[in-house]
Amino acid sequence: MSVPPDIKRIGVLTSGGDCPGLNAVIRGVVRKAEWQHGWQTFGIHDGFKGLLDDSMEELTVEGCRGILPRGGTIIGTSRHTPFMHEGGMDMVHETMERRKLDALVVIGGEGSLSCAHEMHLSGIRLVGVPKTIDNDVGLTERTFGFDTAVQVATDAIDRLHTTAESHNRVMVVEVMGRDVGHIATWAGMAGGATLTLVPEEPFDIAEVCDALSRRHARGKFASIVVVAEGARPAEGTIEVPEPPVDQYGHRRLGGIGNVIAAEIEARTGFETRVTVLGHVQRGGTPTSFDRALSSWFGVEAADALAEGDFGSMVAFQCGSMVRVALADAIAQIKYTSPELRAAARSFFA
Ligand code: F6P
Repeated sequence: MSVPPDIKRIGVLTSGGDCPGLNAVIRGVVRKAEWQHGWQTFGIHDGFKGLLDDSMEELTVEGCRGILPRGGTIIGTSRHTPFMHEGGMDMVHETMERRKLDALVVIGGEGSLSCAHEMHLSGIRLVGVPKTIDNDVGLTERTFGFDTAVQVATDAIDRLHTTAESHNRVMVVEVMGRDVGHIATWAGMAGGATLTLVPEEPFDIAEVCDALSRRHARGKFASIVVVAEGARPAEGTIEVPEPPVDQYGHRRLGGIGNVIAAEIEARTGFETRVTVLGHVQRGGTPTSFDRALSSWFGVEAADALAEGDFGSMVAFQCGSMVRVALADAIAQIKYTSPELRAAARSFFA
């Protein structure tokens, strides 16, 4: 039997875009750490940046009261990684030693977990927790935050139905999802969308307009088109400008809904409006599912540290909490399955 690692003080950090449920994970980690393992937990500020700047605060069970339903992250987040700075990893090791941190819980999406994997290879003891509203981290059926985003998008679609019907309009709803269409597909199905466009399948605008025209010819004069921000037209159809890139090399998406709406109106003559949901999907209180999943992820991550399961990521598979190697989880992002997309297509116009 392996000897449990000698841990007294751990750090927890949240990295990348924020997401409903981050605070619930932090609370879960702190509870387990303090109550069961007798460790001190330090909340590292603004993601990996706090390890470079040596900026952190102690988190206690008492101090974390009330954060379970709170959106955002009480310790801040950023897209900084140690690999963006010369000597960044040395700075991380120095901070870990100075603060006597024995291990870390890294809560992040695919990019942050890749960074965590590199850090693990450089000797940092850590466990990852899969975060993102996009639900695109590999080897976990769910990331926390996704359920909340789908609920927000579904509520919006429900509301748009009534105004679309009152005015006989086409409503284009742009949701998040840079590489994958999980939010678009689930919210589109839940909200009864006429069509859903996802990054996994380039769309042909002529086919979109034909489908809407057929539907309107059947006497339905209102339609809802859900589009993921990362959806792209098929080659040789329409041109979409390349999105700008931010300081972290991240494509700043948003705007494909406007392009599609303009094309629909020009080609069909149907009055069309656009709603871009944007960061509304990421803010605010998590759903009950996300609160419970996040809490479960948090306690499991603390247990993984206690058992010396470093370099792993906690994951949700078939209703159970499991651990997978970070290296395997980041090997490929998780796309929507062809079966899911086929089911969604059964409801299209
Ligand atoms: O990665 C999650 C996500 O919500 C993407 O869907 C979206 O493109 C991105 O974050 C936007 O993040 P930000 O505006 O913080 O750069």
